[in-house]
Amino acid sequence: MLAPSLLSADFSRLGEEARAVEHAGADWLHFDVMDNHYVPNLTVGPMVCQAVRRHVHMPIDVHLMVEPVDALLPLFAAAGANLLTFHPEASRHVDRTLSTIRELGCKAGLVLNPATPVSWLDHVMDRLDLILLMGVNPGFGGQTLIASIFDKLRAVRARIDAHQATGGAPILLEVDGGVHAGNIGQLAECGADVCVVGNAVFSAPDADGGYQTVLRTLRNAAATPCTTPQASR
Ligand code: DX5
Ligand code: ZN
Repeated sequence: MLAPSLLSADFSRLGEEARAVEHAGADWLHFDVMDNHYVPNLTVGPMVCQAVRRHVHMPIDVHLMVEPVDALLPLFAAAGANLLTFHPEASRHVDRTLSTIRELGCKAGLVLNPATPVSWLDHVMDRLDLILLMGVNPGFGGQTLIASIFDKLRAVRARIDAHQATGGAPILLEVDGGVHAGNIGQLAECGADVCVVGNAVFSAPDADGGYQTVLRTLRNAAATPCTTPQASR
């Protein structure tokens, strides 16, 4: 699945941009929330999520790069978020935060930065609907994928498969940051189910179906087996 990130869209036309990527075949809309505290950047909150919600039918995948986390959860649930992910080190009580997200009727997920160990997943696998692995340090779009993501993806894929093999509920594996047509094939091979794409989509103008062309190219590249490792660029 492909989840275009609104972070790289034209912020003066967010509703229109969201509609355009949905029309172009996006599966989810990725919505990056930054607080100038957990990450060195500042973006948008629940009011903007609610405004965008009216423009699309697809799930809105809210990526909370905020600290603390809990107070924002009911606001985003009320604003129409479908999936809520947060960085575990930004919450004092990870199990409680995950449970609260589900109680609010949303899918719950943890986000791991490039240097965040996968051991954060210990003891909470049955609380997760989604695991999001960062391919870059969070805070900005348009960065270069950090190559350690490939081994980390394989490791988390194995954890998810083992969890499901012992009767655990399905968990989706998502990658965010630095994804483009040149590396999405290898990311998919390493086990990614969902790829966030910001710059790779929105840097092309949508005139003459530009977004549709980019999403199709990404989808084809994701489905193409890789024989040699792709560059991490
Ligand atoms: C980065 C954000 C990403 C970002 C991805 O902190 O979480 O969602 O928008 O953008 P690209 O695809 O341009 O790296
Ligand atoms: Zn994100």
